[in-house]
Amino acid sequence: MLAGYAKRLGGAVLVLLAATALWSGCSHNNADSRQPAQMTEEPLSPADAAIDPAHWGRLYPVHYQQWKLTSEPTPAGLSKYKRGFDVGEERRDKLDEYPFLALLYSGWGFGAEYNEPRGHYYMVQDQLEVDPGRLKAGGACLTCKTPYAPKLQKEMGRAYFATPYKEVLARLPKQNQALGAACVDCHDNQGMTLRISRDFTLGKALRQIGMDPSKLTREQKKTLVCAQCHVTYMIPKDEEMHSTDVVFPWAGSREGGIPVENVIKNIKSSPANLEWTQAVTGFKLGFIRHPEYEFYSNDSPHWSAGVTCADCHMPLMSVSHETLTDHRIMSPLKGAMTACAGCHEEKAPELRAKVIAIQDRFIASYLKTGYAVAADAKLFEMANKAKAAGKQIDSQVYGIARENYEQAFYRLIFVGAENSTGFHNPKEGMRVVEDAARYAATAEMHLRQMLAKAGERVPEQVDLELSKYTGNRGQKHLKFRPEHEIKAPIVK
Ligand code: HEC
Ligand code: HEC
Ligand code: HEC
Ligand code: HEC
Repeated sequence: MLAGYAKRLGGAVLVLLAATALWSGCSHNNADSRQPAQMTEEPLSPADAAIDPAHWGRLYPVHYQQWKLTSEPTPAGLSKYKRGFDVGEERRDKLDEYPFLALLYSGWGFGAEYNEPRGHYYMVQDQLEVDPGRLKAGGACLTCKTPYAPKLQKEMGRAYFATPYKEVLARLPKQNQALGAACVDCHDNQGMTLRISRDFTLGKALRQIGMDPSKLTREQKKTLVCAQCHVTYMIPKDEEMHSTDVVFPWAGSREGGIPVENVIKNIKSSPANLEWTQAVTGFKLGFIRHPEYEFYSNDSPHWSAGVTCADCHMPLMSVSHETLTDHRIMSPLKGAMTACAGCHEEKAPELRAKVIAIQDRFIASYLKTGYAVAADAKLFEMANKAKAAGKQIDSQVYGIARENYEQAFYRLIFVGAENSTGFHNPKEGMRVVEDAARYAATAEMHLRQMLAKAGERVPEQVDLELSKYTGNRGQKHLKFRPEHEIKAPIVK
């Protein structure tokens, strides 16, 4: 099945190095044809101009062009679960795709609007368009969005995290405010090597797990530049619920082994990490966001074979006799899958079908578990009401049920926030979701016994009252879109 893949790895050559000298001397004193061709309202300082990819594009026109293509809808009909940014399709909200999430996240911004990702070009734009409830944490929300994040954090210190989002954004030159992941996020402008620009988040986290960010190999960086953003993080709060930092919950882990168990342990290690209150249960909880790096690097088959994020998402391409890294970052299923061909002998449609089969298996389990966790939440709601009405609720059993519920909840949202629909680490995805199902079942058993003892009648089938949560969401009053709901696939 696998063809010799060594020749692919390390095959990308740093071309255009000759342009480096030009680049470093590319300041604004020489007002020649290389001045940025942009609609500036006021002239940008050289430092601000250097953040705009258009500026780099004058030396690397193909890279810039491909980067800009992340603003274009992706080819349709190739991916099964990531269609919301395809040509002719409507954007997808995870709350419509997976209605149990609307129930579980009810009570804060993520329960109002939680869109599937689209191209890098839009990352700040999408924050400006999303339900305002999502930006309550403040400047902290810009950390994995604007290329200015490191600069803002340096200038503002701790205030960066809590200052209202719009106020922080307003510190940037207007024409650069909506820039998405830019060349400077991943590259050093003196030589174009890959670099970690977010020392205040990823750098700190790497040191915590015993890695030296200044001594990373090129292969490590081809994954870690993505791990600046495609990771989960906590926004610890002070007593007034103001954001104080952005922290990766990696303590106790190592490179190649950041399991969900450690992530949960870190979240639960301090009340400061509990960022929101779940409306249905009244519990204060932490949150888990897009843990692509953690999930992938936890000993997945491709990680063990030495494959980096860039190898699959930024395949090599040929442009007039040059071999370049494709900067149109998107789902590999939507391209020719040339990156895979170095190791896999199957033709693209056949390999794509194998990926989708893995995703189908994952989704079948994920949906079942999601509804089981949602049913637990409703049983807590019932117990809370019974208690308020003066019924005897056994607090010890309640505590045991709650612990099992939280263990189920965090596992469920870990694999759900991960964006590959289980593919990045198939076995691990199934393990985590099955563990979640077991915890959810244990919680349910305790809840039912406890409620029965208190004299409550619990129906066999708990009514989730989903329409209460899926409709009229947030400040935009979003409606449920049943046509976007993902139904259980038939798994062979
Ligand atoms: C500066 C932060 C940042 C960095 C660095 C980054 N990403 Fe992203 N990425 C995002 C955000 C945010 C989104 C979602 C954007 C949106 O929906 O507006 C995203 C979206 C994506 C998507 C979905 C695209 C689509 O068409 O739907 C893929 C694939 C992706 N990133 C892969 C990568 C890979 C691979 C790397 C490293 C080579 C990387 N990203 C580096 C923040 C980042
Ligand atoms: C072996 C190849 C491979 C590797 C390595 C890989 N991915 Fe993926 N990735 C995929 C496939 C396949 C999908 C599923 C796409 C789909 O369903 O359309 C995917 C999906 C994604 C998505 C969601 C895409 C979308 O359109 O919404 C993101 C984001 C992403 N990967 C980021 C990463 C990051 C970050 C890394 C490294 C930590 C990584 N990937 C490593 C193959 C890979
Ligand atoms: C999300 C991270 C990311 C962003 C943003 C990014 N690059 Fe890259 N770039 C990479 C990776 C990964 C490689 C491959 C490096 C390797 O093989 O060692 C690369 C390689 C390159 C190379 C070396 C030649 C090649 O094609 O392999 C150039 C030149 C380059 N990028 C230019 C740019 C320009 C210009 C921009 C902005 C328009 C940009 N990059 C934005 C990640 C990024
Ligand atoms: C550097 C080599 C390499 C690259 C590149 C690579 N793979 Fe793999 N792939 C592997 C290895 C090794 C395994 C594990 C094989 C095993 O355990 O039997 C694997 C396993 C798989 C599997 C599960 C096994 C199967 O055949 O059903 C799928 C699906 C898959 N890869 C898809 C992809 C896709 C899609 C891409 C490109 C986006 C890709 N791979 C890129 C090496 C690679």
